[in-house]
Amino acid sequence: MIELDKTLKIAIGSDHAGYKLKEIIKEYLNENSYQVLDFGAFSEESVDYPDYAFPLAEAVTSEVADVGILICGTGIGMSITANKIKGIRAANCISTEMAKLSRQHNNANILTLGARLTNPEEAKLIVYEFLNNGFEGNRHIRRVEKIHSLTNC
Ligand code: RB5
Repeated sequence: MIELDKTLKIAIGSDHAGYKLKEIIKEYLNENSYQVLDFGAFSEESVDYPDYAFPLAEAVTSEVADVGILICGTGIGMSITANKIKGIRAANCISTEMAKLSRQHNNANILTLGARLTNPEEAKLIVYEFLNNGFEGNRHIRRVEKIHSLTNC
């Protein structure tokens, strides 16, 4: 197995639906010696995912964290919310290939996961690909710049 990139500071957050998977992914990251910042939720009590997505996304854009991982039931609410923050490119991934390409082509800085759709073992593999691939640059730079210039976010 390839050595994980442990230089990254990772912010992680969830709502109630993603709480259990967040704890599993947090343990996986801690086991691999990453610096992990936990933005909650801290139980399965019902909460609203924007309340967790916004602060985490702001931590990424302000460089408190290098990248983020947000988990809800589907990953959709978290990605919609995080992408409202200027400078965020959140990718909702249900496969390792999506995670790899989100980094290589889209320079994604937040991974969102759906705890009701992705089992913990697959989720760890998706996280692994997200953390161990980088932006390819070249033609993708122009496209990523267009995302931000056209949408002003
Ligand atoms: C909560 O029931 C659920 O709606 C939320 O976790 C998420 O899947 C929304 O996108």
